[in-house]
Amino acid sequence: MQHHTPPLSGPAHPASTSEGYSCPSRGLPAFPADYGGERRPRLSHNTARRCSGRGGRHSGQCPGSAAPLGLRGPRFSREREAEGTAPPSGRGGARRNGPGQGQGQGQGQGGPGRAGPGRSGAERSGSGAMLAALAAAWSLLAAAWSLLAAAFLAALLLLRRAPAPRPGRAGLVIAGLFQDLIRYGKTKRGCGQLPGWLQLLQVPKRWFTHFYVVSVLWNGFLLISLFRAEFLGESLPSWIQDMHHALGRDSQSKDTDSEHFSALLVLLLLWLHSCRRLAECLWTSVFSSGVIHIVQYCFGLGYYIAVGSTVLCQVPTNVRNGKKLSVQICWYHIIGVMVYIWASLHQHRCLAILANLRKSRSGKVVSLSHSVPFGDWFESISCPHYFAELLIYVSMAITLGMHNVTWWCVVMYVLFNQALAAILCHEFYQKNFSSYPKERKAFIPLVF
Ligand SMILES: NC(=O)c1ccc[n+]([C@@H]2O[C@H](COP(=O)([O-])OP(=O)(O)OC[C@H]3O[C@@H](n4cnc5c(N)ncnc54)[C@H](OP(=O)(O)O)[C@@H]3O)[C@@H](O)[C@H]2O)c1
Repeated sequence: MQHHTPPLSGPAHPASTSEGYSCPSRGLPAFPADYGGERRPRLSHNTARRCSGRGGRHSGQCPGSAAPLGLRGPRFSREREAEGTAPPSGRGGARRNGPGQGQGQGQGQGGPGRAGPGRSGAERSGSGAMLAALAAAWSLLAAAWSLLAAAFLAALLLLRRAPAPRPGRAGLVIAGLFQDLIRYGKTKRGCGQLPGWLQLLQVPKRWFTHFYVVSVLWNGFLLISLFRAEFLGESLPSWIQDMHHALGRDSQSKDTDSEHFSALLVLLLLWLHSCRRLAECLWTSVFSSGVIHIVQYCFGLGYYIAVGSTVLCQVPTNVRNGKKLSVQICWYHIIGVMVYIWASLHQHRCLAILANLRKSRSGKVVSLSHSVPFGDWFESISCPHYFAELLIYVSMAITLGMHNVTWWCVVMYVLFNQALAAILCHEFYQKNFSSYPKERKAFIPLVF
């Protein structure tokens, strides 16, 4: 087996090669604290009850207020029906259906998304319904995650088609900065010497551990808060409500018990994932002297705060209005959890394989070099732990009922982020190990 061997306690940055220098890949700034969502004064508990508490941008107004009818969600309509102030409506109007909620979509007389008074003709109601469906399925959070996904896709494309840096210092600096921001750990090795000022911006890759500490604490806190709100009828802390208002509740979600349970379950899965990853960083993985860029480090810290907050924003601000959740387990909860467990088991196994490459049979760390891993999903791809990560996020999308557009945007972000890291890692293996298995793909078995 061939080894690519860095010094056991080498310099903070790898030695140079002819290739030019490069950097880590989790680059972009964390998570805008406020996406420009309209801030509304917090509602008192009683007012919130009366107002039915749709925390989104389009609602949160009391029945009888001046909100345009077409923007009100199904829950609002249901309440008006209960009060006798609205005709029975099709649920959700132009909103997308969740599994098991297919009836009445867009057919009601009073539901949002229908053609307004004075409108006639199938084509007008058709295009109107399509526009309303698009608007309803989109949210500020979805837009933010899509932007991040697009940034990583652009980096991927740029990496594939990057023209040679323009002659001159500026071109080299820009190319170097780009590489510095997309690479980390072993994929930075052998890629040239960073200028001194860029070296100052590198931190140890073992600080990955901090991401999971933050995630366990933050998402654990969100989980407890949501659990208390759902099962004990308590209010979420006021600053979380503020965050909710700022980010806007995801408008495509329906306000049903199964939706609430889905969000709670996904938050629990996310927290368990962070606990496992923290334990792996502390007790399984063996880190070398690899580095990540400080921007990637800050991004990683913000990422786990953002991802948990995104889940929380899938339920209304004043969650249950004092009502307690009755648990409704659906088929997609069961399938989602099964995929999650399957992917997590493989991810753990693959990370253990990587760690064992550096340990003796007795478990003692004997090397910090990189070598070719074999076994489990490594037989078909170079980065099975990245592929498993993608599957974990897909499993959460399934658990949310598969119709949550915002979460699919998160999945797209993970897809492009991990694909970029996998391609760089695959290239590293191919470049450094002449006998690297030819049939191995980089990221997705049999695909690429
Ligand atoms: N959701 C997200 O946005 C996101 C982003 C990034 C990572 N992650 C997840 O976090 C986990 C870790 O990611 P990562 O990028 O740190 O993975 P990685 O670079 O493969 O590193 C994992 C561990 O294995 C070691 N290692 C890697 N290749 C090795 C080899 N050929 N021989 C011996 N040891 C080797 C690394 O040591 P070194 O110290 O030498 O690198 C590190 O300790 C993955 O499961 C990934 O999916 C998630």
